[in-house]
Amino acid sequence: MKGIILAGGAGTRLHPITLASSKQLLPVGDKPMIYYPLTVLMLAGIREILLISTPADIPQFRRLLGDGSRFGLHVEYAEQPEPNGIAAAFVIGADFVGDSPVALVLGDNIFHGHAFSDVLAEHVRDVDGCVLFGYPVHDPHRYGVGVTDESGRLVAIDEKPERPRSNRAITGLYLYDNDVLDIAKNLRPSARGELEITDLNRVYLERGKAELVDLGRGFAWLDTGTVESLLQAGQYVLTLQQRQGVRIACVEEVALRMGFIDADACHRLGQEQANSDYGRYVMDIAREFQAGV
Ligand code: TTP
Repeated sequence: MKGIILAGGAGTRLHPITLASSKQLLPVGDKPMIYYPLTVLMLAGIREILLISTPADIPQFRRLLGDGSRFGLHVEYAEQPEPNGIAAAFVIGADFVGDSPVALVLGDNIFHGHAFSDVLAEHVRDVDGCVLFGYPVHDPHRYGVGVTDESGRLVAIDEKPERPRSNRAITGLYLYDNDVLDIAKNLRPSARGELEITDLNRVYLERGKAELVDLGRGFAWLDTGTVESLLQAGQYVLTLQQRQGVRIACVEEVALRMGFIDADACHRLGQEQANSDYGRYVMDIAREFQAGV
């Protein structure tokens, strides 16, 4: 499976912070926001990744991640000059996707929870149709909402409903079979001029090929779109990390644990940042891994 991170957009709710910087490069706790969605794809076992962003921001992402080889990845970049919709990712990324299934993650979505890699591993296998991930929220009217029948089968997707029929928001992580390229190509822009991900998902729903996986309340799905939510997400990460002594979305650690790089390579990556707690953590992890701790 291939992976796409959509990290464009204007971040208008964060102006003036995002006037000169991509939202997805802002700090969440001790690391750039993009590390969180990147490690989601890595935990799903995905190593071929396309990062889509604005022409102005791509050089900064490239500076941070390069071609991905340091992390045992292959990272490519593509431009989305205007924020013309989430589903546009599959038009922009069609050549990259080729004939593979594909996972899409939004660059500003933060996921954290127990056994997330197991949940991902279970669902990335043999995707037939699309797999969406639902999460209970107190304000479902702000989101695309998944409505299920008694057996848990997805029966409708309501976009920003005034009277939500469920509290299950559809998160910014989506798995698709290769039909997604054709479906995206044939979408028409909505009234707001965007290729809508909900329209795309509804095509799968009509074909009886859309599944909603419940992430459940024991999980964290955090927003970073406003100043308050961005700070809260950072606080969440720092609080957990300090309490547990392990880091969330540490790219080097995930690459090591997934077997994408070895302990020596991981240690070197830590050494390059040895003046920070983060860098020292990466070196410690590499040493512990080598010692079989
Ligand atoms: P949004 O939060 O809808 O938009 P935004 O990030 O530009 O912020 P604002 O509403 O404050 O203007 O986007 C969700 C995520 O998807 C975010 O990571 C940006 C990304 N995105 C794109 O990259 N291209 C797009 O065309 C759209 C609609 C979103």
